[in-house]
Amino acid sequence: METAARTAPATVIVAIDGPSGTGKSSTSKAVAAKLGLSYLDTGAQYRAITWWMLSNGVDIHDAAAVATASEKPVIVSGTDPAAPTIAVDGADAAGPIRTQEVTGAVSAVSAVPEVRARLTELQRSTAAAAERGIVVEGRDIGTTVLPDADLKIFLTASPEARAARRSGELKGKDATDLASTREALVKRDAADSGRKTSPLAKADDAVEVDTTELTLEQVIECVVTLVEEKRTA
Ligand code: DC
Repeated sequence: METAARTAPATVIVAIDGPSGTGKSSTSKAVAAKLGLSYLDTGAQYRAITWWMLSNGVDIHDAAAVATASEKPVIVSGTDPAAPTIAVDGADAAGPIRTQEVTGAVSAVSAVPEVRARLTELQRSTAAAAERGIVVEGRDIGTTVLPDADLKIFLTASPEARAARRSGELKGKDATDLASTREALVKRDAADSGRKTSPLAKADDAVEVDTTELTLEQVIECVVTLVEEKRTA
């Protein structure tokens, strides 16, 4: 019989995947902040490399050109959940990576295997360097980037709920029309799920959380509890 208390692991790696509009970013940041962990938004990195391609005249539909250029931009992510940052070649890219132009181009760029290989390596080294552990959010974190993560979460929500959340986020900036937001989301999900290299997918050992009927606070609480359970297991 095991009587001695087990030592809690020094670090904890949490992978949070799922389509857009499921509350991934808000949840991941809040969970990391509550637990004193680092935070990495891998979607921001795919957006950053896409922005660089667009800014440097690379035809994003020419996979060979994207592959050749993929080594060039220097992408640096700041992992403080209270103030995450993203820089490309030393310049702050937080604003430009959220434009409709980048959103419309990111699936094509992120389908290129060389882009994925480059960013996967960067993401793994960032996770390895996080002293207390890290929450990493994306589409292929549990399946490909960090298959040995201590906890894998897959967030889902109905397309209607996701479109409503996204429209709220975009209000005053770009599209506010719910139907077109829903259409764009579904199209991007189909591209992200259908690509050959590490598509958006739930890992077999991931815990699926349907956020359709939950508040953000409830989702955060649920994930924090799951992490605490892992830490003390
Ligand atoms: O999370 P987001 O919407 O900012 O992500 C932008 C795009 O980046 C998304 O359409 C798919 C891609 N992505 C990816 O292919 N793999 C990841 N790990 C994260 C994002």
